[in-house]
Amino acid sequence: MTRQEHYQSLLPQVQSLCDGETDLVAKMANVAALLHYEFRFWWTGFYRVAGNELILGPFQGPLACMHIGFGRGVCGTAWKERRTLVVSDVERFPGHIACSSASRSEIVVPMIHDGNVIAVLDIDSEHLATFDETDATYLEKIVALMVA
Ligand code: SME
Repeated sequence: MTRQEHYQSLLPQVQSLCDGETDLVAKMANVAALLHYEFRFWWTGFYRVAGNELILGPFQGPLACMHIGFGRGVCGTAWKERRTLVVSDVERFPGHIACSSASRSEIVVPMIHDGNVIAVLDIDSEHLATFDETDATYLEKIVALMVA
């Protein structure tokens, strides 16, 4: 199964997890678990926007930093720039926040609701260049389903 087929097969599951569920944190918890165990990522989780910072939300994986400022690290930059960031080598991303030294590549997808970024989905891999446009496309679909 290609990565694309794998994501495609997960979309109905995400849809059914979100159907009728109004609690975003509950949806974040199940979507983090789904993605993490399907793809065996290193770290999969959400940071929620709270005032002028991101605060750690539901995740799967090792312990992570709990507060990230606007424009800081990959997560804070994706929030500031309101776009998905695919980082092939975290050591080459200026200001990258290393929650785990094992993390080598990363993707961060903003969750936008009513025109505002309300959270980001952050996924880390212990391998270089794990993520590409396919991941960006499908993860954007997934976060859109979560706020629909
Ligand atoms: N690497 C992220 C911080 C979060 S951890 O990876 C879970 C960043 O630079 O924003």
